[in-house]
Amino acid sequence: MLRLDFVDGTLGWRRRHGGGRGQAVAKAVGLRAGVPPPKVLDCTAGLGRDAFILATLGCQVLGLERNSVVASALIDALQRAQEDEVTAKAMGGRLSFLEADSLQVLPEFVSSFQPQVLFVDPMHPPRSKSALVKKEMRILREEVGVDADAEELLRLALRQGVPRVVVKMPRRADAWVKSPRHQIMGRSTRFDIFINTS
Ligand SMILES: C[S@@+](CC[C@H](N)C(=O)[O-])C[C@H]1O[C@@H](n2cnc3c(N)ncnc32)[C@H](O)[C@@H]1O
Repeated sequence: MLRLDFVDGTLGWRRRHGGGRGQAVAKAVGLRAGVPPPKVLDCTAGLGRDAFILATLGCQVLGLERNSVVASALIDALQRAQEDEVTAKAMGGRLSFLEADSLQVLPEFVSSFQPQVLFVDPMHPPRSKSALVKKEMRILREEVGVDADAEELLRLALRQGVPRVVVKMPRRADAWVKSPRHQIMGRSTRFDIFINTS
């Protein structure tokens, strides 16, 4: 069973001590002082971690998740988080999740939600040291496997005319599709950033 928790554990700790806008994910979506936080459509919500962090940093975030077990776990965790006064205040009503396949619904949600950022973080093939992967990620991997159609999702995202598309990749992986405008390096991951100037 997949039980997610936005109140305690890793995410609770990260909300309190995680480094705010200095975090790689915050920089990747373009969060910076003096600019209103962007609206982010998270096309691959997963464990909801990036979505939660961005919401607590001021972004309005809609997360789409196509796996029904994972989507239910996200909606359940969000409901419990809303019952916790401190976490609810940190989220400020800016976070929501829906069960949907972004490959099917992306144009519709781009038009209704009007995001400034599309965020794509699919399941990549496992690392060789998979024994070290944390429990929730292990369950997610058992449930979801590898997102073999992820490149198709990125291509679709790039066609939407949204100003910024961010894809989270393993640190050393080759870039997909075409060269990104910027790259932000995290410890084990990397954010490739595509800017649409049209
Ligand atoms: C690596 S996880 C995302 C982790 C997430 N960024 C986090 O911080 O917890 C990838 C998730 O994307 C979902 N996914 C992949 N392709 C999708 C699509 N086309 N539409 C919706 N969800 C998708 C998978 O089911 C999986 O749960």
